[in-house]
Amino acid sequence: MLGNFMYCNPTKLYFGENSLDYLKGELENYGKKVMLIYGGGSIKKTGLYDKVIAILKGCGKTVVEDAGVMPNPTSVKLEEGAKIARENGVDFILAVGGGSVIDYAKAVSVSAYCDDDPWEKYFIRFEDVSCRIIPVGCVLTMVGTGSEMNGGSVITNHEQKLKIGHVFGENVFPKFAILNPVLTYTLPRKQMVAGFFDIMSHILEQYFSGTDDNTSDYIMEGLLKSLIHSAKIAVRNPEDYEARSNIMWVATWALNTLVAKGKTTDWMVHMIGQAIGAYTDATHGMTLSAVSLAYYRHILPYGLDKFVRYAVNVWGVNPEGKEKQAIAEEGLAEMGKFMREIGVAMRSSEVGVTEDLISGIARATLIMDGGYKVLDISEIEDILRASL
Ligand code: NZQ
Ligand code: ZN
Repeated sequence: MLGNFMYCNPTKLYFGENSLDYLKGELENYGKKVMLIYGGGSIKKTGLYDKVIAILKGCGKTVVEDAGVMPNPTSVKLEEGAKIARENGVDFILAVGGGSVIDYAKAVSVSAYCDDDPWEKYFIRFEDVSCRIIPVGCVLTMVGTGSEMNGGSVITNHEQKLKIGHVFGENVFPKFAILNPVLTYTLPRKQMVAGFFDIMSHILEQYFSGTDDNTSDYIMEGLLKSLIHSAKIAVRNPEDYEARSNIMWVATWALNTLVAKGKTTDWMVHMIGQAIGAYTDATHGMTLSAVSLAYYRHILPYGLDKFVRYAVNVWGVNPEGKEKQAIAEEGLAEMGKFMREIGVAMRSSEVGVTEDLISGIARATLIMDGGYKVLDISEIEDILRASL
């Protein structure tokens, strides 16, 4: 049964090969001073930086740059960005990059005028924004996180060994997002496939929860099938527009809040993956792939019927004459085959986890209660050990 909900997603999307043409019109809705946020330089190599600067200049903007946003953006970098935004009195933030750049831009937008420590307020105490918010828009260059159409912002504090996400409200969602699949062709293969698994994980986190009959679960099965089909094509030919565009669209739907409405969700793979990231700074999608099979095998007995449904509806497992347990395990085995085929990390040792880190990672994991089993710390340690 669908629970009660409010649904609002204010992000305006421009999708397709000509989507950058709409940037100028969008920028005209905002003031003169634009803070351009980007990462470690991929946009300079690909020529996108020059195109964006030409558009900004073309509409008479004064540009303040904040470059060097690292994958897994840090609380230290956030302080720097908030200061730049505040001291320059920027009217608008334009994020050009992947999830890290967009997440960071949202964090800057709510931190520039925050009179508290933003890390403590948003990422430790999970408080709402109580200050002026600078509007954000984005040009997406890496597919996976869904950050282009949600309020999520994940920040890492290396000193405290914590990586934590805050889901901000609609007033922090990007005002617009430009989604051109061609801009993602230059991604290194490792990042491309990490993004594919991130998408899969977002869907599974919302799928493996609840026993009710829920429209969202059917939508998610469709999204998963499209993702699996296109990911197999994209790893053979990364410039297959049909596959890359479908994946880009699935990624946005996977985490633009729609499929979570009216149902419970899990998110434990992400909580474990983020704790690993806090310790190893590994690529987000790979931290998820590294622990997923161990996690799902652990919770399978508690959500058996859903794992059977997953095996049959998503992986095409033939259930005839088989016990539920066998069907469910076959589904996870098919998932494992797919993961090896696209080339994601299969073991947590591949993302830097070692036996001596397990206890700390388990303790840095936030425990959620929406999945099939509320884990305790020793279970998280078991899952990490099984995944090594
Ligand atoms: O920094 P540059 O030089 O741009 O290089 C980036 C970076 O090294 C590169 N890249 C991006 N687009 C490229 C490109 N290289 C060549 N061509 C392009 N077109 O890719 C590398 C990874 O980029 P990053 O933005 O870090 O990856 P991703 O999009 O996976 O973002 C990861 C961050 O998002 C958070 C993660 O925890 C992590 O911190 N997440 C955000 C979520 C949200 N907002 O809802 C949810 C997710 O679950 C996730 O937690
Ligand atoms: Zn993710």
